[in-house]
Amino acid sequence: MKNIILDCDPGHDDALAMMLAIASDKIKLLAVTTSAGNQTPEKTLNNAMRMLTLMKREDIPVAGGNRTPLVKPLETAGNVHGKSGLDGADLPDPDFEVQDMTAIELIAKTLRETDGKVTLVVTGPMTNAALFLRVYPELAHEKIDQIVFMGGAMGLGNWTPSVEFNIYVDPEAAKIVLNSGIPTVMAPLNVTHQAQIKKAEIEAVKSIKNPVGQAFYGLLGFFEIYHEDPKWGFFGAPLHDPCTIAWLIDPEMFETEQMNVDVETEGELVRGETVCDYYDLTGKPKNTEVLLEIDRDKFIKLIMDSLETF
Ligand code: BDR
Ligand code: CA
Repeated sequence: MKNIILDCDPGHDDALAMMLAIASDKIKLLAVTTSAGNQTPEKTLNNAMRMLTLMKREDIPVAGGNRTPLVKPLETAGNVHGKSGLDGADLPDPDFEVQDMTAIELIAKTLRETDGKVTLVVTGPMTNAALFLRVYPELAHEKIDQIVFMGGAMGLGNWTPSVEFNIYVDPEAAKIVLNSGIPTVMAPLNVTHQAQIKKAEIEAVKSIKNPVGQAFYGLLGFFEIYHEDPKWGFFGAPLHDPCTIAWLIDPEMFETEQMNVDVETEGELVRGETVCDYYDLTGKPKNTEVLLEIDRDKFIKLIMDSLETF
């Protein structure tokens, strides 16, 4: 059983990542913290709580984190995730209280109260993770075994030509995390763009008759629309964030390479680009395990099977 903390900005694919973690008997979700990213910090916090209410996991503590990125003004992705950040389904209002502390305080409390090491999973901008490393460096190094994140790409972009959204929003935070000395596992666009769910598979979710399945039928339908634009050349909607949890559940589903990854925080065209040293040209420490290939059919089956458990 792996103990994890999920720091997220729900977000349709963040919600799916949370669902996979809750459904899995290999993962214990100890706490959820939220960041500003796909939507404003108020909305992402509310969305995380609405999802936990839907999945009847109000026992999992939740705290809200950063209001803005470390340096840049906040840029959100309402064009992808809608006005609420989770458009497409009628979700219940939260029926429990948010923790009376910040995200980094909840992470610290959770680490201190847990025996053994904990994995931090980040599926939004890395602002909270970077703040945590700056405020609690000893605790972080003692108790976090790895930081598994969705973000970045090797030669691709989805927000600017070579920059992925999560890193684009807070490049300085990502740089702090990648250079922290804590091992990182990266789910870049190269793998998440293989993790597409087809329209017919979304239709199949409709027949999962529990409330969680029904909600995700609506959510995935909404999320798919943005990805229909022919410019992407997709055959479905890429499910970015659940790749992190799928890797924790079944690493055999992926092919990976160990390499140095850093972030460009300057530059007119490439601010936020993840620089992946695939050929070890720098000789710098191989700080990151990068997911490069996924068994898509296995991944979709995991999602379907997980939705059935509710
Ligand atoms: C990432 O950006 C967000 O819109 C998604 O939730 C995902 O974390 C993909 O670039
Ligand atoms: Ca996200």
